[in-house]
Order: sequence, then C-alpha cells, then structure tokens
Amino acid sequence: MSDVVSGIETEAHWVGPGDVAYERLRDLRHRLFFAEMVEGRGLLDDASETRAHHLVLTPPGRPSEVLAGGRGLRTHDRTYVISQMVVEPEFQGQGLGRRVVELLVDRAARHGAHRVTLAARVEAVGFYGAVGFTVCGEEFPSATTGVPHVMMELRPPR
Ligand SMILES: CC(C)(COP(=O)(O)OP(=O)(O)OC[C@H]1O[C@@H](n2cnc3c(N)ncnc32)[C@H](O)[C@@H]1OP(=O)(O)O)[C@@H](O)C(=O)NCCC(=O)NCCS
Repeated sequence: MSDVVSGIETEAHWVGPGDVAYERLRDLRHRLFFAEMVEGRGLLDDASETRAHHLVLTPPGRPSEVLAGGRGLRTHDRTYVISQMVVEPEFQGQGLGRRVVELLVDRAARHGAHRVTLAARVEAVGFYGAVGFTVCGEEFPSATTGVPHVMMELRPPR
C-alpha cells in the first residue's frame, strides 16, 4: 500500500523472517531500544516475536530502507497489543509513527479486536495520546530494560 506522509513517499508492508525489511526493522528496534544492553539482539526475540504481525514503512521499491515500523498481536480476549514502535530518528516528528499506528489499529479492527493496548515508554505517552490512546494503568519499569512505562488503550470503532 503506497502513501505520502508529510511529503515522504512510503509503502507499507507486512513482513516476517526471510524478508530483508523485517531484518532491517529488527536492526532499527535493536538500535533504538536495546543497543546498550549486554543481552543485545536476544532481547528482540521475546514471547510475541514469532506470532506478531510486523509492519514496515519503506520508500517505494526500496525494502532495505526501513523508515518506521511496529508490531501487533491479537490475544485471546479480543485485545490487540501493539509493541516495538520505531521511527528512524531522522524521520521522526513527520507523521510516520501516526501512520504505523493507524495501520496496526486498522488490522486490529479487521481481526475483531475490541480493544488495542500497549505499554508506552513514559516519554512516548504524548505521542500515543495524540493518536487516540488514553492511560489505563500505573507507571511500571520494563522487565527487560528498566525504562518506566505506562499501559495505554484505545477502543477502535467497529
Ligand atoms: C515515538 C515515535 C514512534 C513517534 O513517531 P513519530 O513519527 O516521531 O511521531 P509522529 O510524527 O507520527 O507524531 C504524531 C503526533 O504525535 C505527537 N508527538 C510525537 N511525539 C510526541 C511526544 N514525545 N510528546 C508529545 N506529542 C508527541 C506529534 O506532535 C503528532 O501530533 P499531531 O499529529 O497532533 O501534530 C518515534 O518518535 C520513535 O521511534 N521514538 C523512539 C522509539 C520509541 O520511544 N518508541 C515508542 C516506545 S513505547
């Protein structure tokens, strides 16, 4: 699916193991979340990784240049959990993160989810608030990084 966001041409792709864009997305997630941790790339392979839907935005026809991405997983109680939202630093603040969330929320609705949740880094709460999420829990430290997070939710229109 092609789109233009703040003048940036993008294509959205659902990707997985074997796709170059999936590996570049994992590189970006590692760089933005885990680069300074001794466990390194192993932290990318948490309990959700193999079951989640992985979305990337790339320039048209250039799958190795990942601009942004995120992942989502539908749970048994019709909740869709978004995680690992990333935008390449030089492209942040131009609407790409919003576009990734919109596409994940659209997929959540198509999978029959009644609720979308995520654990937001405290510094990202303003972003998720701007795209429609509300805080629904107390602040807690991430079990893997210790970074403060807070649970947020969205009830997509059905
Ligand atoms: C958080 C992140 C995904 C946001 O993506 P982005 O492309 O920079 O955000 P967008 O440009 O799509 O912003 C969408 C809206 O959120 C707002 N916003 C973005 N970051 C914000 C912040 N830190 N505080 C308040 N509002 C913010 C924007 O102003 C915009 O609002 P508007 O449309 O009303 O003008 C991105 O900055 C990122 O990758 N950060 C590092 C990794 C990270 O922390 N990921 C989240 C982990 S929970």
